Amino acid sequence: MLKVPYVTNYLSEHFAEDDYPTLEGYLRRGGYAAARKAITQMTPDQVIDVVKASGLQGRGGAGFPTGLKWSFMPKTTDKPKYLACNADESEPGSFKDRILLERAPHKLLEGILIAAWATQAQTTFIYCRGEYAFPAAQLARAIDEAYAKGYLGKRVMGSRFSHEVVLMLGAGAYIAGEETGLLESLEGKMAKPRKKPPFPAEHGAFGMPTTVNNVETFCHVPHIIGNGAAWFKGFGTEKSPGTTIFGVSGHVVRPGLYELPLGTRLDEIVFEHAGGLSAGRKVKGVIPGGMSMPILPAGQLDVPMANEFLRERKTMLGTGGIMVMDDTTCMVRAGWVITYFFRDESCGQCTQCREGTGWMHKIFERIERGAGSRGDLEILLDVASKMDGQTICAFADAAAWPVQGLLRHFREDFEAHVSHGKCPFPQSFEL
Ligand SMILES: Cc1cc2nc3c(=O)[nH]c(=O)nc-3n(C[C@H](O)[C@H](O)[C@H](O)COP(=O)(O)O)c2cc1C
Ligand code: SF4
Repeated sequence: MLKVPYVTNYLSEHFAEDDYPTLEGYLRRGGYAAARKAITQMTPDQVIDVVKASGLQGRGGAGFPTGLKWSFMPKTTDKPKYLACNADESEPGSFKDRILLERAPHKLLEGILIAAWATQAQTTFIYCRGEYAFPAAQLARAIDEAYAKGYLGKRVMGSRFSHEVVLMLGAGAYIAGEETGLLESLEGKMAKPRKKPPFPAEHGAFGMPTTVNNVETFCHVPHIIGNGAAWFKGFGTEKSPGTTIFGVSGHVVRPGLYELPLGTRLDEIVFEHAGGLSAGRKVKGVIPGGMSMPILPAGQLDVPMANEFLRERKTMLGTGGIMVMDDTTCMVRAGWVITYFFRDESCGQCTQCREGTGWMHKIFERIERGAGSRGDLEILLDVASKMDGQTICAFADAAAWPVQGLLRHFREDFEAHVSHGKCPFPQSFEL
């Protein structure tokens, strides 16, 4: 089982308490009071206004404003409206949703209920990564409890509002986390992302208006409705309010989960919270937000972890999965691993992505073997630039950005491979 976060805040404060995942334990700590407040004392529009005012941004990677997304759901339609909860979490370096599913399944269900009331959705489909057997079992148990005690199903908490929740497990494809790939998979098809428009709010699951949100995004909502937008804005930065659960992995003394306000400096997370690196080792580079986000070199770790600051350094917060690499690391090998993943996971619909990911991987392999040329570095950049922003979904961008980041900051590693005719980092991790 995952260890509870080393630093806790409102999302994770009860994670260490054994009964918190149960309905009884959740109710004992004030659970479902915010959902009751929303459903019995607030109109759907009032809920959306509070979430908009809170400035909550989606925690699934793109950082889209949540209240605004909810407001896109059509108000006058005869069609049933749906929510989809994205619990696919398949990006290497990202493991924050897992702990929420394991330790706070009722918080997620409460957030879903509030979102359902706000958008007047009749059903939520929770799409959970298939490998998350234990988190999915925890969630399934919580769903059963919530149905049994009237927190889900007909007449939620005695109100006139009804809501159904359906849990579905994926089959191990990263692209099923892209929101329209998720919808396709939900419908029993291959997770091939859809062309947009139409956007899911118009044509989503089974052709019905649908809002897709990440697990963590839903989990912030009960706190916002319970405590108010101003309270939420007391955490984080002006433009990026709230906390997030950072997952730190790689060459640190204390890898794990840390719930901290957005805007916490990256060097504070790596050196103070995660305990820095083992004796004698120095940081070489840090991926700040899951494998698709461009890497930062050691000299740029003074950045606050919020998109408005990270963008200035040509990277983004992504999923908050921080991957630390020490000075033994070969950045060509790192690129080899990254491009291997994207080559394998591309759904293959777009030529730039299908061919580009494979092409980039082949070049990384050649450079790592010592058979690369200087021209290969230019080809890598050229291929990456032709993938970025050109395809049906953002997967191709996510595959191109890390390559661009590695060449931006570690070009000397690539050139050393070319000029030595072999990898000059014998101590680096093995492929
Ligand atoms: C290739 C790819 C994979 C993605 N995987 C996930 C995922 O596993 N979980 C997730 O919440 N969002 C993922 N996203 C982002 C979703 O498309 C979508 O933006 C998100 O679920 C919206 O939720 P939010 O607004 O609450 O952040 C992925 C996007 C792409 C392009
Ligand atoms: S960008 Fe890649 S993953 Fe996305 S639809 Fe095109 S081929 Fe599929």
